[in-house]
Amino acid sequence: MLFVRAVLSNQLARLQPLYLKVGNRSGRGYPNVAPEATAEYFRQCVRDYLAQLGQPESFLKGKQILEYGPGDTLGVGLVLYALGAKKVVCVDRFPLRSKKTGPVYRAILDGLSGAQRERGESAYRDGELDPAAVEYRVTHDGISGARAEFDLILSRSVLALVNRLDRTLDDIASALRPGGVSIHKVDLSSHGLDRYRPLDFLTWPDPLYRLMYSRKGRPNRWRADKYQELARRSGLQILKMEPTGHTDVAAIRESLASPFRAVPDELLGWLGFWILLSH
Ligand SMILES: C[S@@+](CC[C@H](N)C(=O)[O-])C[C@H]1O[C@@H](n2cnc3c(N)ncnc32)[C@H](O)[C@@H]1O
Repeated sequence: MLFVRAVLSNQLARLQPLYLKVGNRSGRGYPNVAPEATAEYFRQCVRDYLAQLGQPESFLKGKQILEYGPGDTLGVGLVLYALGAKKVVCVDRFPLRSKKTGPVYRAILDGLSGAQRERGESAYRDGELDPAAVEYRVTHDGISGARAEFDLILSRSVLALVNRLDRTLDDIASALRPGGVSIHKVDLSSHGLDRYRPLDFLTWPDPLYRLMYSRKGRPNRWRADKYQELARRSGLQILKMEPTGHTDVAAIRESLASPFRAVPDELLGWLGFWILLSH
């Protein structure tokens, strides 16, 4: 039954881009949490990026930044701009941007003071973000198509959902300026698709999994080893790669689908990771 329903909805997604929300995966909260709580999520995302980069806020000054997969609110973009980024471009495969995000932007701005507040306010006009400061683009496969344009490229809870990880990594390599850096928090969990055991969504044979989920923004299932392989193939160096969680995979080892059988044990159980890339 699960299989039939999943295949049918995947076919419907041929007609209309379909992004199925499967709960609070990114940690941002559901739509009806208080605007201040959502604003704090975006502030924390930026703090996390800076902590992973080992940089102070002043690092953002004058930077041209690309964010993949912003979701329905360009909150990270607004915080980055207020802290001094020259411009933030947010690119997505699915048109998720909501028109009801005013209270969240207001809460972000109210949490700022001095020059940062002034800069943030200058990007927010008539309830909308000024695209000269924070721009939203929906593109084929969520690809930016940029050439050596960005000093900093980032994402959170996105890379495990991109439909063509090879193309996204090529896009990062091409969009990054010489000397630029790219930082991503990757969520390798099943996003609610497990049936009996952690990560048992890796046991669906690949053709069946694609038939069920390929068009709906569901996980691409690639494990950490694939990111290493594709990053290197794109000409990117991995400066840092650190797991954020781990699970025991002994129970599913024998029934893994073919693309995952050769994944080393120590990487197979990763539930997520931070990755820092450069040329
Ligand atoms: C789980 S949400 C994360 C949203 C946001 N980054 C956050 O932390 O709340 C995943 C986002 O990735 C986007 N996405 C999915 N496939 C993508 C692709 N191929 N390229 C860019 N973004 C993509 C989705 O549309 C959605 O905006």
